[in-house]
Amino acid sequence: MTNVVVIGSQWGDEGKGKIVDWLSERADIVVRFQGGHNAGHTLVIDGTSYKLSLLPSGVVRPGKMAVIGNGVVVDPHALIAEIDKLEKQGVKISPENLRIADNATLILSLHRELDGIREDAASNSNSGVKIGTTRRGIGPAYEDKVGRRAIRVMDLADLDTLPGKVERLLTHHNALRRGLGESEITHDAIMQELTSVADRVLPFRETIWLMLDKERRRGARILFEGAQGSLLDIDHGTYPFVTSSNTVAGQAAAGSGMGPGSLGYILGITKAYTTRVGEGPFPTELNDEIGQFLGEKGHEFGTVTGRKRRCGWFDAALVRQSVATNGITGIALTKLDVLDGLDELKICVGYTLDGKEIDHLPASQGQQARVEPVYITLEGWKESTVGARSWADLPAQAIKYVRQVEELIGAPVALLSTSPERDDTILVTDPFED
Ligand code: IMP
Repeated sequence: MTNVVVIGSQWGDEGKGKIVDWLSERADIVVRFQGGHNAGHTLVIDGTSYKLSLLPSGVVRPGKMAVIGNGVVVDPHALIAEIDKLEKQGVKISPENLRIADNATLILSLHRELDGIREDAASNSNSGVKIGTTRRGIGPAYEDKVGRRAIRVMDLADLDTLPGKVERLLTHHNALRRGLGESEITHDAIMQELTSVADRVLPFRETIWLMLDKERRRGARILFEGAQGSLLDIDHGTYPFVTSSNTVAGQAAAGSGMGPGSLGYILGITKAYTTRVGEGPFPTELNDEIGQFLGEKGHEFGTVTGRKRRCGWFDAALVRQSVATNGITGIALTKLDVLDGLDELKICVGYTLDGKEIDHLPASQGQQARVEPVYITLEGWKESTVGARSWADLPAQAIKYVRQVEELIGAPVALLSTSPERDDTILVTDPFED
C-alpha cells in the first residue's frame, strides 16, 4: 500500500477529475498542494454534479478528509462561496472534513484586480506579455509569497501583527498601482476585507505537515491532487506562458510538508491528444478540420473560464519530458474515444529546429516558437471505444496506438479511461496497491 500523487502530464485539462474522484473513494485523505481556484472540475456522484475549483475532491465523499496544503494560494471569498454552494447541495463542510494549512498564502481582491489589469494592458499594447491567465489573482498572490510580504491564513488570527503586514503589502502594491495609473488602496479596506472573512476561514486552520506525518505513520492512504499540468509548471513549463506554481509531482512534498520519500506512486494523467488554453507555444496544434473535430468531440471548453481549448496531435516528446520531471510511475490515458473514426493518427516524436533534429522541446521561448514537429503516422480505427472496460473491447489499431504511446514516453499505462463514466475504465495497475 502506498500514497498516490496525481498530476497532469500536459497543459492541464487531461481529465484529472474523473481519475482523482475514482482514487479518492479509496483514499483516507485528499490533499491539494499547489495552484488555487484557477483549477476546475465537475464530479458526478450518484447523479448529482458538483463543481470544485479550490476544494480537494475528497470533500464531497463522506468520511474523507480534504486538505488544502501550504503550496495552495487561497482566495477566502472563493473558498466561502464554494463551501456555501456545496452546502446548498447537501454537502456538510466542517473541520471534520476540511483542513487548511495555517501557512498557506491568501489571495486578496487586490491580487485578482492586478491580474486583470495586467492582462488587459498586455492585450491593448505591446508592453508586457499576455499570458491568457484565468484572472483569479493566482500569479500576483504567488509573487507576494515569494516577495515575503504575503498575508497567510494564520495571520487572520493575529490582530496585533496584521496591521504591520498590511502596511508592508500596500507599500508595494500602491507603488505598483501608481505606476499603472490605478487608484491607491487604503489600509482600512484591506483590514476590513480580512476581518470579514476571518471567522469563516480560521476554524479550518491546521498544522498540515504535522497532521500528515501522524496520518502517514498510522497507515492512512493519502492522495495528492495536482492541478493544471506539468507543461504549465513555473520552472519546467513553456515559460512565460505558464501558471505561477510548480505543478510537477515534487511539489506534492513541498506544498504539503510531507517528505518526498513518502509520496509513493506518481500517476500522470495524459490525454490521448493534446490541448492547451491561453497563449503560448503548441508545436502539434491543428488549425484545421481535425483540430475542430477534436475540440467538438472532446468538448474542449474550459470549466473555469469557458474558453475554447486549442487542440492538436499527441506530443510524445513533451510527455516524455513530463515522465522525467515528475518521475511518473504510470499514466492514466484519457479520452482515447475522441480519436475514434479518424482515418489516420499522428504522434509527434521530436522536432526540427532550424533544420536540425532534436528530441526534446528547448527551454528558450524563441526556439519553442520555431520548432516544427516530427511525426509518425498510425492507422486509425472506425469502431467506437466508448465505454470499453477491457483490452478485448478495443480495436487492434487502438491497442497499437496505446502501445506506441507507452513506448515513446517511456511509461506504462496504469489506467485507460474510455468515457466520463467512472466505471468505463480499464485498470491495469492499482496505484494504491502498486
Ligand atoms: P493562471 O494560473 O490563472 O495564472 O494562468 C496561467 C496559465 O495557466 C494560462 O495559460 C491558463 O489558461 C493556464 N491554466 C491555469 N489553470 C488551468 C487549468 O486548470 N487548466 C488548464 N490551464 C490552466
